[in-house]
Amino acid sequence: MASTNGFLVRSARADERAEILRLSEICFGIRVNPADTEFGTQVFPTERALVAVDGDQIVGHANDRVMTVTVPGERTVQASGVTSVVVAPTHRRRGILRALYTRLHERSESEKLPLTIFTASEGTIYGRFGYGPTVVANEISIRGRTAEFRSTTPDPGGVRMATLEQAKTVLPEIYDRWRRLVPGAQIRPEARWQQRVFADAVQNEGGSPPFFLVHPDGYAIFRRAWNDAGKNVATVQELRPITPEAHIALWRVLLSLDLVSTIEAELTDHDPLPYLVTDPRLVKVTGRHDALWARVMDVPAALSARTYRRDLDIVLSVQDPFRAAGGSFALRVRDGIAECEPTDRAPDLELGIDVLGSLYFGAYRARAFAAANRIQAKDPGTLRAFDEAFTSERDAELGWFF
Ligand SMILES: CC(C)(COP(=O)(O)OP(=O)(O)OC[C@H]1O[C@@H](n2cnc3c(N)ncnc32)[C@H](O)[C@@H]1OP(=O)(O)O)[C@@H](O)C(=O)NCCC(=O)NCCS
Repeated sequence: MASTNGFLVRSARADERAEILRLSEICFGIRVNPADTEFGTQVFPTERALVAVDGDQIVGHANDRVMTVTVPGERTVQASGVTSVVVAPTHRRRGILRALYTRLHERSESEKLPLTIFTASEGTIYGRFGYGPTVVANEISIRGRTAEFRSTTPDPGGVRMATLEQAKTVLPEIYDRWRRLVPGAQIRPEARWQQRVFADAVQNEGGSPPFFLVHPDGYAIFRRAWNDAGKNVATVQELRPITPEAHIALWRVLLSLDLVSTIEAELTDHDPLPYLVTDPRLVKVTGRHDALWARVMDVPAALSARTYRRDLDIVLSVQDPFRAAGGSFALRVRDGIAECEPTDRAPDLELGIDVLGSLYFGAYRARAFAAANRIQAKDPGTLRAFDEAFTSERDAELGWFF
């Protein structure tokens, strides 16, 4: 237990769950569905939650779950996935968030987790704690029934509609095959499937129930709803193609929906959808957001967990303003496999630990950070090699939101 500025940070008790949920409601401006809370507690057990307490009131909360996350090269790393970080409106800007993160980081370090990840509510808060945005999602919109497939686009078929009961049986297995390939995707716990996909509460939310399209190597979940302008919008909540064939087959069904004015979905930067159709402009990007943030907790452990796309022999100087995870590290890559260890050799390249977090899953480019003066390389060749090595063969994606 730590005492600072009139508040204490300690572990939460199980009987404090209702008060924590009330705090989340006022901080995020949401209504927590009571049916949601039982599964929610299984996904993020209260035993791991930290609360900040002022007298008899809970005024801050943060929780995490140890997640297995895929990294470039179809490998995985263990990460602390942080969630529900809230500070009471009555107690803002007194250092409660800082105190909660300090405690979370101490625990991650004691559990030897090389990475911490979360989804951020705002872009300006977390850089100071060593986090960088690391996965990108493009929000797209396509007018219904306007897209025509190119004559060269195959028509593999194989998609069927699945009932809720069938989806419960097949989706988790397909997801698990998909997440093994995709940097940023996590193992999804059974309780999260129940809570966010299969629960009665989810089935009965506004608009249509979710519909499931299943291919042997992929699936899509979408809903339809009428908007204020009286138009029917189909929103793709998840599209998980393992193969290019499954991607094409699922999009062929989605783009043939009748009585739909717009189809909305999220794509990675290199999704092939625009190349399947005769008019790539139909796939309109309406927004773009960071879907995941990452902080490297242990540079050698994190950097040797993933693979790289070219050989490297480089000394990195990593600055960590918030913890003591920085320093100089020799990174040696041969045939994709890395060895990384502290060194006292002179650095070839300098960067902040937040930038390293951004580069980790391969979605952000080192050359862009260098152009922004956030990476300093000793010469252009070093930067080029570093930039290419950190890219990923498959685009990074968040597996499930938390
Ligand atoms: C965001 C939130 C958790 C911040 O809590 P807090 O206890 O007021 O934050 P702290 O006082 O510990 O601030 C730590 C640092 O972050 C900065 N900071 C905090 N909130 C910020 C914000 N919204 N935007 C920019 N900077 C912010 C503070 O200025 C401080 O900077 P410094 O220490 O470098 O001078 C709180 O405002 C909140 O609950 N917001 C609504 C829910 C939310 O967005 N949660 C985050 C989910 S990812």
